[in-house]
Amino acid sequence: PLMKDLFGLTDLEKRLATHLHLKRVIVVPGDSDQSDWVKKEMGRAVARILKSIAQPDQVVAVAGGTTLAAVAEMMTASSSLKETTFVPARGGLGEAVELEANTIASQMATKSGGKYQLLHVPDQLSDEARETLIKEPHIQEVVELVRSARIVVHGIGDAKAMAERRKSSPQLLAHLQQEGAVGEAFGYYFAPDGRIVYYGRSIGLTLEDLAGADNVITVAGGSDKAASIAAVCPAVGGGTLITDEGAARAILPM
Ligand code: F6P
Repeated sequence: PLMKDLFGLTDLEKRLATHLHLKRVIVVPGDSDQSDWVKKEMGRAVARILKSIAQPDQVVAVAGGTTLAAVAEMMTASSSLKETTFVPARGGLGEAVELEANTIASQMATKSGGKYQLLHVPDQLSDEARETLIKEPHIQEVVELVRSARIVVHGIGDAKAMAERRKSSPQLLAHLQQEGAVGEAFGYYFAPDGRIVYYGRSIGLTLEDLAGADNVITVAGGSDKAASIAAVCPAVGGGTLITDEGAARAILPM
């Protein structure tokens, strides 16, 4: 706490929580766009929160991405997470295997000593194939588990960067640009006012399901993501944000 005050981070946290209408904000020093260890520090902060709020037999749904990979990396064995089941928040969203939510969920379980269940649903399915898959009993079971999650941990991406990372069609890229999309989370693309401009259909957690979770933990940093975080956080709805100084200073008005 003393170090935080020296850097003025406690004040930043309070101002950001008010500005984004969040219950709680944690700001780690530095800018993850500039140094990799800052992302790990955000990961460490998330790991600490997960340990402290754990309850027996809970489900934790996790998203994919490099920031969530840093969270998984920073998890350590914990008796409080032994009965936790980690699940991916969504089916495939077009990420590389290392960044898939399935991979992150299994790593978080392995590192913390918990359990996991996976959702084997590829991205870019035809409507017909998706409808068939959703009816599979095992998939249904996992989807129910995902939607019952007590804790959801997710990242935020820049809309254009995410669409490109997922190798989206030129049509989608043009649509996102036209609609002014700035942020992405859970496959939803948002405009600065929080409006959803596109929703990549997969299966798993929907934005509506978030209301049923006790804790929604958002983890995203880097000054380049300022506009994305500002657009997505209010839309996701009021939980905890773990970010870095770079993003926090860029989001707040001077
Ligand atoms: O694709 C999964 C996801 O969590 C997205 O919803 C989010 O925009 C992105 O990853 C964040 O990725 P990164 O942490 O690498 O910026």
